[in-house]
Amino acid sequence: MVAIPHSQTFALVQTLQWVFDPVGYMEKNFQRFGGFFRAEISPVNPEPIVFVNHPEAIQSLLSQDNSDELSAPGEVNALLKPLFGENSLLLLSGKQHRQRRQLMVPPFHGERMKAYGDLICAITQEVMDQWQVGQRFCAREAMQKITMQVILQAVFGLYEGDRYQRLEYLLAERLNLISTPLSSVLLFFPQLTVDLGPWSIGGRVRRLVEETDQLLYAEIRERRAQPNVDRTDVLSLLLAAKDADGKGLTDEELHDELMTLLVAGHETTATALAWALYWIHHRPEVHQTLTAELEQSSDMADLMAISRLPYLTAVCSETLRIYPVAMVTLPRRVEKPMQLMGYDLEVGSLLLGCIYLVHHNEALYPNAHEFQPERFLERQFSPSEFLPFGGGSRRCIGAALAMYEMTLVLRTILSQCELQLAEPKAVKPQRRGGTLAPKGSVQIRKVGDRSQVLPALETPPESAGNLNGIHTSR
Ligand code: HEM
Repeated sequence: MVAIPHSQTFALVQTLQWVFDPVGYMEKNFQRFGGFFRAEISPVNPEPIVFVNHPEAIQSLLSQDNSDELSAPGEVNALLKPLFGENSLLLLSGKQHRQRRQLMVPPFHGERMKAYGDLICAITQEVMDQWQVGQRFCAREAMQKITMQVILQAVFGLYEGDRYQRLEYLLAERLNLISTPLSSVLLFFPQLTVDLGPWSIGGRVRRLVEETDQLLYAEIRERRAQPNVDRTDVLSLLLAAKDADGKGLTDEELHDELMTLLVAGHETTATALAWALYWIHHRPEVHQTLTAELEQSSDMADLMAISRLPYLTAVCSETLRIYPVAMVTLPRRVEKPMQLMGYDLEVGSLLLGCIYLVHHNEALYPNAHEFQPERFLERQFSPSEFLPFGGGSRRCIGAALAMYEMTLVLRTILSQCELQLAEPKAVKPQRRGGTLAPKGSVQIRKVGDRSQVLPALETPPESAGNLNGIHTSR
């Protein structure tokens, strides 16, 4: 019997390391134990937690997560309950989870998603129009404005009006409460959010929750009272949906799914975009190659084709590789005694696919700490080698939207604005709630409009498929 290696460090100390220095925690354990290690990082889950980062094991984990041996249960995501509610897709299991996914996946794929393209560009333009030459702004905040409005439109079909503005404010405030490593402790120790009066954090959370709930329930009631079959937004689809017994979703179920989509649908993409802006401006050669590709395609009108531009896509993939916004997948649970890569796994163990460590596997990604988009042009990575959106039965339902949004937002900004990092020093990753975000949120300065700053290209830019000589280092 081969037991899974683990550190002897006290559980509380490991939890604090995971909260305050997640990258250091993962890297240290990887150096000591390699592809598998047990972690004691969750005060709410008594089951053993195992970090898995060997690509072969990840493949087994994600391809069998709906089998007799492995499941992807929702109840183990209890930490997310205060934010999303117990009826959220993230907290559902088994058949109920599969059925709910069938309802929620279609609006984020194919033709439906394509319809968001013009909107993404228009919203980006609106936000960008507020940037003055010489002015400095926080990239993460600006990107959050864009991604929030996109998801409000996808979910409600609208992003303007008092109710939406208020919702935008309340959601941003709520997430800001867990935006630093220190305040992220609240997510791991929910008992700290007990309401001790109006000045306590618990009191603030309660007020934000109450007001958000009022707005969401008011919207649900109004939309139930005035159904409109022509609307194609997610709320309209969920309102009309019925299960095999002809039963629709309750108001509570609708509320929890709206919260899930609103939060999961904007926070992650905003962080990914802030990272992308950082890397593009931190690496002048990346900026140059990217803007050359965008100039070459400046007369392209098909937004889907733009979103597939090779170097632009490679920059987005490399951004999601180097500091994956989600460091680990949601937990998978061992249901029957099983072996993985020669290790014996106890029933009840929770397995986390460690996205960060897979993405830093030197055999797959040489010089893994360097930002090199061209690695995505030189070879294809399998779903267990590159997995910013997880995989298997819980693969992110917004993956296609997130990639589409990233490419179109970057294209809109970079083809019109000349930006610079306001602070040229290297930006480190730090925990923001459950995600890995740039420390300091990336401060940017607008230095000009592109037509004023960039001379017309005299020689044709290097082909995006032939990026010899472009090499970046940290
Ligand atoms: C860059 C942006 C994003 C990243 C990095 C990301 C990452 C992830 C990851 C790693 C998972 C867990 C997958 C697993 O355990 O296998 C996940 C799940 C999920 N994501 Fe995303 N996501 C992003 C954007 C979005 C967007 C735009 C939406 C909404 C439209 C969304 C909605 C969800 C939902 C609802 C789940 C839970 C799926 C389930 O439980 O079945 N995400 N995401």
